[in-house]
Amino acid sequence: MSPSELVLALERARRRTEDLLEPLSDEQLTRQISPLQSPLVWDLAHIGYFEELWLLRRVGGRSAVSQEYDDLYDAFAHARGERGRLPLMPPEAARAYVLEVRKAVLGLLPELSFNGGDPLLEQGFVVGMVVQHELQHAETMAQTLALAGLPAPEPQREVTASGEVVVPGGPFTLGSTQPWAYDNERPAHLVDLPPFRIDRALVTNGEYAAFVEDGAAAPSGWDPAARPNVPVEHVSFHEAEAYARWAGKRLPSEPEWEKAAKTVAEELEHMSGAVWQWTSSFFDAYPGFSAFPYAEYSEAFFGDEYRVLRGGSWFTDPLVARPTFRNWDLPQRRQIFSGLRCARDV
Ligand SMILES: [Fe+2]
Repeated sequence: MSPSELVLALERARRRTEDLLEPLSDEQLTRQISPLQSPLVWDLAHIGYFEELWLLRRVGGRSAVSQEYDDLYDAFAHARGERGRLPLMPPEAARAYVLEVRKAVLGLLPELSFNGGDPLLEQGFVVGMVVQHELQHAETMAQTLALAGLPAPEPQREVTASGEVVVPGGPFTLGSTQPWAYDNERPAHLVDLPPFRIDRALVTNGEYAAFVEDGAAAPSGWDPAARPNVPVEHVSFHEAEAYARWAGKRLPSEPEWEKAAKTVAEELEHMSGAVWQWTSSFFDAYPGFSAFPYAEYSEAFFGDEYRVLRGGSWFTDPLVARPTFRNWDLPQRRQIFSGLRCARDV
């Protein structure tokens, strides 16, 4: 990646943030809309803080803009539901801070060497991390807006496919060697899977309605009267798993999902661009994992608490929605743009 490509990526992420937040009032930006989500003004300042921390302080050796931000805007210092009670910067100050950081970053980039052997800088990794972080927070903010009844405009995504694809057994490479891939996607390694079947299409509202009529709980924010041919959304892992069982199928495991994405993608509809797809897998380390550049990104979440989602939603930027990208959340959560695709044994 050339320095000008890095600048374009940073600007693209910023545009998505601005497009979401520009129409909102100060009251909408500062309100704690849900205990599951931060006030939007926290996300905004945290985007700037993350960029300051990694690019200006760690890479550029600059001193902190404010020592207080290390507590206020550290994602591990306070739970999301408490952030509305913190002495956060008001929207005007948060906008100015984010802009000030970005200006300094644009001044710093031409001074950096992206192929000098520093793994943080190699091929622009740390800039890619900052870009992806902002894009991921933009999606988190879009979830918050949906909870507030102010959803971002959603593109059309009718389901038209049907039937299954058989994915032959045998080894494939799980994980990524791409320069901007996260530590949890590494190292790429061979995995041998038995053959399996995977649905061409995502589960739709219409199909989910039949499950609900059979006695299941309806997902929050789900309107059974609306758009039966659109993928069901805001489904928890537990609901997704229960649906698959009811349908006589199961969720794909994470390696199965990725193998399908890497080997039969052209036969499958909506592998990205519609809803995140729950898998049956816990979020865990690949063999040979090493935390980079910080343990709180992935390692702190490994274990049997979080389930992995794959693919990417209608909001997810293509830069994030790569076939190896691993999203994760608690199995009861459904504020995310999550749905499912079923699989079964051959
Ligand atoms: Fe963050």
